[in-house]
Amino acid sequence: MMRSGIYAVAMAALACGGAAEPERERAPTSVGAEVAEEGPAGVRRRDENEIPRTAKPWGEMDGDERGRFMGEAVVPYMRALFREYDEERYARFNCASCHGPNASERAYAMPSPELMALHPSGSDEQRAMVEAHPRMVQFMFQHVVPAMRTMIGEREFDPATGEGFSCYFCHPRAE
Ligand code: HEC
Ligand code: HEC
Repeated sequence: MMRSGIYAVAMAALACGGAAEPERERAPTSVGAEVAEEGPAGVRRRDENEIPRTAKPWGEMDGDERGRFMGEAVVPYMRALFREYDEERYARFNCASCHGPNASERAYAMPSPELMALHPSGSDEQRAMVEAHPRMVQFMFQHVVPAMRTMIGEREFDPATGEGFSCYFCHPRAE
């Protein structure tokens, strides 16, 4: 595969959210024909307006309304995205894929203890994680994060304040 260079570009832009946040850069819009055709990580880049949104602000929705939105909008959208990333691995994609198998006992609290714990941006451990999972990190950063953030109407992560949507909405923090 010829994609490693493309991944390296996006890796420079990785910001998980966390204390020591490096200056956030945008991945260049044209990093090669392959990306233009397929999108980052081999997944078609979605248009902003393909991403579903809640009818009223997330903060004003109760648990039932949130659960319904998850079932009607989040799961179908994310299922298609994850299957485009890896059809076999995500042949089954449902609430438990993000919330873990015992989600309802945990009242769907996020982050999910079942997802990989992530070290803060700029740490050696984070760099090692990115090197070990380049395509997955690209997929998370370029597709999953912007989609989830948009779906629940969260702001983009702001390194200055530490507020906004980050990997840590889904993944636990590593010690
Ligand atoms: C792609 C990942 C993903 C999938 C799949 C998913 N969720 Fe969620 N869900 C989230 C995230 C992220 C939040 C937390 C948003 C926040 O922190 O405000 C959340 C929040 C919730 C909440 C609100 C919890 C609270 O504390 O207010 C409920 C209820 C919920 N999900 C139910 C479901 C159900 C039911 C399904 C399956 C039909 C599902 N989710 C599938 C990512 C997902
Ligand atoms: C909306 C929830 C959500 C957000 C936000 C999110 N992830 Fe994920 N992440 C997942 C899910 C779901 C999986 C798939 C787990 C599986 O395959 O069982 C995953 C898998 C991963 C994996 C692969 C782990 C493994 O065991 O192979 C890595 C690495 C990863 N995410 C990193 C990140 C990084 C870095 C960010 C922020 C840039 C991020 N994720 C943001 C939900 C999320």
